[in-house]
Amino acid sequence: MIATVAKKIARYFRPKTATINEKIVRYYDAGLQHLHENHGRADVAEDTQIDDTPQWVNLGYWKEAKTFLDAGEALANLLGRAAELAPDDEVLDVGFGLAEQDFYWLDTFDVRWIVGFDLTPGHVEIARRRVEKRGLGNRINLGVGSATAIPVGDCCFDKVISLESAMHFVTREDFFKEAFRVLRPGGRLALTDLLPEVEGRTMGGLAGWWKRRSLGVPAINLYDRNVYQDKLQSIGFKNVRVDSLGEHVFRWAYKHFTLMRHTDSAVLDTMPIELNEKERDPSWRPPPVSWGLGDYVLFTADKQ
Ligand SMILES: C[S@@+](CC[C@H](N)C(=O)[O-])C[C@H]1O[C@@H](n2cnc3c(N)ncnc32)[C@H](O)[C@@H]1O
Repeated sequence: MIATVAKKIARYFRPKTATINEKIVRYYDAGLQHLHENHGRADVAEDTQIDDTPQWVNLGYWKEAKTFLDAGEALANLLGRAAELAPDDEVLDVGFGLAEQDFYWLDTFDVRWIVGFDLTPGHVEIARRRVEKRGLGNRINLGVGSATAIPVGDCCFDKVISLESAMHFVTREDFFKEAFRVLRPGGRLALTDLLPEVEGRTMGGLAGWWKRRSLGVPAINLYDRNVYQDKLQSIGFKNVRVDSLGEHVFRWAYKHFTLMRHTDSAVLDTMPIELNEKERDPSWRPPPVSWGLGDYVLFTADKQ
């Protein structure tokens, strides 16, 4: 009896991979449902409402951007440039969301083609319809799949990219191994990710734990950028480089998502986000910084 209760408690605090992945899919399905019901966006069950509006599922990069759409594009641009995307590239995008960055990378860097895998079937369904609507089926090929068991052979991509998704992967380290396997020699892994700060000033106590749990960020991925770098190197990656972007991400993204509760996204997407005095104060620590995910990083690493 005591052993059973102890096992249940242990499972609650250290859930299995399948449980974490189910939670992640539920989290993103709820997001789609919210966008459908409150913002008139596409529903997975309907074949309508696939419009041409850009649809980012990330926090954005707000250094120069004033609106959510510009910030999403700026982040994809930064990552595409860090990956050195080029016209001959065959690219794997892991955790593509609604595929917005794939349209952007085709358009901006003219890469040869993009294959993508995402865990959330609802995202895949809508993203595929968006690809079809744009007539890009010969250059973008998307499917349901997990970052930790990528269903392709070895050495078949020039670039592996993941835009703000790897914090969810169970485990992120297993994804690094998969990325190394599927990259060609000379290929590059490039990703943006959410991490605890170096010598984390806070993990947010119980509230932080609860928030990370509901966001689907497993405890096993909670290490800082130095450990991250060591893990990439120990798998065999060379030239590991990291940039912390957080000072141009969290404040504006948090404001955007707060406003989203009561502003239509058609308006909010293109509405300049202004910070108030408190939000501008350098000592203010916006969520998710206070949830123990205070470092927003851009990593690149090469397979030689
Ligand atoms: C924050 S969203 C980013 C989406 C997109 N890259 C963007 O920036 O708009 C994270 C995405 O990662 C996907 N994801 C989470 N865990 C995954 C896994 N193990 N394998 C593949 N995709 C995963 C989610 O379904 C979600 O679409």
